Amino acid sequence: MNANQIRQKFLDFQVKHGHKIVPPAPLVLENDPTTLFTGSGMQPMMPYLLGQDHPEGQRIADVQPCLRLQDIEDVGDPRHTTVFEMLGNWSLGDYFKKEQIENYFDFLTKEIGLDPEKIYVTCFIGSEKYGIPKDAAAAEIWQEVFQKAGITAKTADIGSAEAGDKRGIKPGERIFFYDDKENWWSRGGGIETTPLGDPCGPDSEVFYDFGEDKQDVEKYGKSHPASDGARFMEIGNQVFMGYRRDLDGTFSELERKNIDFGMGLERIAAAAIDSFDVFKISLLRPIVERLEEISHKNYDNNTDEMRIIADHLRGAYLLAAQGLQPSNKAQGYALRRLVRRAVLRALDLGVGQDFLAEIIPVIAENYADLSDDILPYRANVLAILTKEENAFRKTINKGMRELEKLAKEERAITGDDLFKLQDTYGFPLELSVEEAYKHNLTLSKSYQDEFQAALAAQRERSKTASKGMFKGGLSDTSEQTTKYHTACHLLLAALQEEIDPGIEQKGSNLTPERLRFDFSIDRKLTSEELKRIEDKVNAWIEADLPVVFAEYDKNYAFDTLRAHGSFRDRYPDRVTVYTVGKDGEQPVSCEICGGPHVERTGTLGKFHITKEESSSAGVRRIKAVLK
Ligand code: ALA
Repeated sequence: MNANQIRQKFLDFQVKHGHKIVPPAPLVLENDPTTLFTGSGMQPMMPYLLGQDHPEGQRIADVQPCLRLQDIEDVGDPRHTTVFEMLGNWSLGDYFKKEQIENYFDFLTKEIGLDPEKIYVTCFIGSEKYGIPKDAAAAEIWQEVFQKAGITAKTADIGSAEAGDKRGIKPGERIFFYDDKENWWSRGGGIETTPLGDPCGPDSEVFYDFGEDKQDVEKYGKSHPASDGARFMEIGNQVFMGYRRDLDGTFSELERKNIDFGMGLERIAAAAIDSFDVFKISLLRPIVERLEEISHKNYDNNTDEMRIIADHLRGAYLLAAQGLQPSNKAQGYALRRLVRRAVLRALDLGVGQDFLAEIIPVIAENYADLSDDILPYRANVLAILTKEENAFRKTINKGMRELEKLAKEERAITGDDLFKLQDTYGFPLELSVEEAYKHNLTLSKSYQDEFQAALAAQRERSKTASKGMFKGGLSDTSEQTTKYHTACHLLLAALQEEIDPGIEQKGSNLTPERLRFDFSIDRKLTSEELKRIEDKVNAWIEADLPVVFAEYDKNYAFDTLRAHGSFRDRYPDRVTVYTVGKDGEQPVSCEICGGPHVERTGTLGKFHITKEESSSAGVRRIKAVLK
């Protein structure tokens, strides 16, 4: 059974069990200040998981294309892809664990035809600290389900994944209890990192057994479901979304408990053909085969390159087919990065011109079954991506010529040289280094440090330069909107300072007349609190604080600068950080943001809150004007 057939079977199965099929959310999100791409099937379901009624009822299913850029460095192994299709079903306060587990097991064994002997599952071991019990109920249901298939499934308490690496699994064991790093689901990951105000809960993951791999044991320890080794692959996750994280950090039970189920199509398709390599499935294999043809190289000897190219170009196809263009900003930058990384790997394979013209049609054919509503701009994809490919090749050629010039100078190439190649010509550092080695050029001993120093110096320059960026040039209208944008940053900072440091932005909407700002909190603010917030913002405005921005590595922005940004995982690797505050003092506000903003807060005028109201469960809304 191929991937397209599995996708259809899943939808038919859900309809048979009373689910309404809803269209997926766009993969590329516009006007969402918190996240760039849809990264899981549940993301568009958030309001309904928190209690709002879904117009289509309590049983919903869909196929959601997802992008997880945070996995980009893992691509190259047999199972990671940046883009994937999530087959999902939801019970919004309707059925719970029993029906979900029974149906899912039926789907896997009867519809897809997986051997029940090869199915292993995990459940949540519980959290004493937060008073959340061990999920013995889910394990019991699993035992019954396995028993009906003639299998006696023993349970085992594992705890952490590391404990599992040491212990392995014992004969007869099939149901394993792990800690929150493995078996708790929220948009933020484990129990400690669950975002305030978000729905969450213990989950039960399902794994397919590809058989013991001896080499694996040396690298990853003993096999067990949560290991990184190749024996077990997760093929589905059932979240028993029965909790919500409150603003004080504790967890309370939701009135209406939900099922949030998701299964990666690529992985279930791999299990269906008993291949631990997802690049062998019908959506990816034809890309690899075409790569073998045009490179005259063999997949088995070039797995990394071919997997990266297949994954990245499939991702680029799906993004461009939604109308996204490569650029240097946010989503466009992600697309640019996917194309460029693929082109670099193609160079490694010795594939030159017309690379995309060879590959994109193969990908397009795979998605011929998907509707035009999901991929409205598919006809333009090749042209858009080829333009990017050509521009990047020109960059590379220019960089190569500069490198040749350097080679003639008969001296060691320094980190400054390499920085200039990257900064001026866009020639990536890794490529320079690779080329230098290929042509036996000498690199200075400390080229890495020199490169980093040059990078830091340039950042400092851009920080200073940015101070003069917004002098004039903006129209009246956009200037007013820009003021409201800066006011939003001050408002968030004031909410965090006066009410709760855990408050997160949940959305915003700006016009030249007012701002609207949504944020996480589970109660109404008092008029006294609103007054304090207003006063705080006005004090910062009166202090006429400078607003500056600079670009940083994402990790540096979050970990060192402590910049605010709601979705760490979904930002690109390089981010722009806007800071409000006096030079040399602790900033008032520090946020990851695309801008633009005013140059100084003194230009904003008087800040006045006109309304405070509920936006959705756990989210309040403030409307404010500048006078
Ligand atoms: N939301 C769950 C996941 O993405 C199903 O794993």
